[in-house]
Amino acid sequence: MAKITFIDKDGNQKKIEIENGLTVMEGAVQNNITGIDADCGGSMACATCHVYVQDEWFNKIEKAEDAEQDMIDMAHEPKKNSRLSCQLIVTDQLDGLVVTTPEKQS
Ligand code: FES
Repeated sequence: MAKITFIDKDGNQKKIEIENGLTVMEGAVQNNITGIDADCGGSMACATCHVYVQDEWFNKIEKAEDAEQDMIDMAHEPKKNSRLSCQLIVTDQLDGLVVTTPEKQS
């Protein structure tokens, strides 16, 4: 279980608890987080689950694999701290994670 904070483009924050084993995207969808549409259901084909990971967390989590990076490159306004939230699997180690949803997805 991890508490994860989502910040939207206006700076509004929502903190939710997500069970271990789910993805950050799945937790966001279950909790109606604005800006996480997840159109492809987590198959890395849409990039509508794109998030910016807070810098202090970005280097703590596993790096994106090539296929994820390719999809991030096609997302709207990718940044160096971009990740697809459907590829972030929740563990206790993610407790406290903070991500921001891109403006285009809100
Ligand atoms: S849900 Fe489609 S790429 Fe993540």
